[in-house]
Amino acid sequence: MTASLEGRRILVTGAARGIGRASALRFAEAGAMVGCLDMDGAALDELCAGPQGNRLHRLVGDVTSSEILAGAMDELAQRFGGLDGVVNSAGVDLEKPLTDVSDADWDRVLRVNLTGPMIVCRAALPLLKAAGRATIVNVSSGAGLQPLKFRTAYSASKAGLQMFSKALAMETAEFGVRVNAVCPGAVETDLFRSGLGEPEDAEGRRVVIRQRYALGRIAAADEIAAAIFWLTSWESSYVTGSVLAVDGGRTFH
Ligand SMILES: NC(=O)c1ccc[n+]([C@@H]2O[C@H](COP(=O)([O-])OP(=O)(O)OC[C@H]3O[C@@H](n4cnc5c(N)ncnc54)[C@H](O)[C@@H]3O)[C@@H](O)[C@H]2O)c1
Repeated sequence: MTASLEGRRILVTGAARGIGRASALRFAEAGAMVGCLDMDGAALDELCAGPQGNRLHRLVGDVTSSEILAGAMDELAQRFGGLDGVVNSAGVDLEKPLTDVSDADWDRVLRVNLTGPMIVCRAALPLLKAAGRATIVNVSSGAGLQPLKFRTAYSASKAGLQMFSKALAMETAEFGVRVNAVCPGAVETDLFRSGLGEPEDAEGRRVVIRQRYALGRIAAADEIAAAIFWLTSWESSYVTGSVLAVDGGRTFH
């Protein structure tokens, strides 16, 4: 039986696609009200017009903007009366040898993947503390546990997000706010597909990628959303500061 999230109020970033979208829908199906934040307003429109749309609240904006996040928190406080959970799923990938990584590339990856979640958490904490029993789940990556070649910025940003989550868990525990990170392996999303290169090379790359995984396959976004759901529900009431690999067995050996 799926845990109920009836009455819970959750913010999901990167909610228009992939893992964020799957998480937002799963929360809504379990009875939660979900603030869906993404830069892509058209994709959010499509999400909110679909099933569960009456439980989804559209928030268009960039996670790297403190002003946007301050406004989003005011809006959620007014609309939902508070906030019980945050999922930071917005993220960007970059595959390049370091000598080709410009200062702007590096800044963008670190800004979206590490500074963004910090800005979201900082803005959300007053509401989460007031809720008394709240959660944050940061979507890191297996690349933050075991490095991927040509992904220095991405791997560093995701490893940083894990330690950020642990350090934050230390300071929020006394307020009843649990903070955890999940580390997906390869997940069938737009972000993953964009890293496969030219269409004629894509199947070959998929074969190589599958071989890295003990389970021998690429995950569906729902499988990552299931772990995020568990860490957001009271079923994980004694879990905080953890870094959970949801990676089909890429990083345990
Ligand atoms: N797909 C994978 O294989 C995989 C593996 C490990 C980790 N992850 C991580 O999971 C998270 C979600 O990835 P996904 O595969 O669902 O990606 P995706 O590209 O399918 O979705 C990401 C969403 O985030 C939004 N976004 C990007 N930058 C943003 C910003 N600055 N502000 C607001 N929204 C922004 C995009 O518009 C998009 O809708 C990312 O943090 C990614 O690093 C993905």
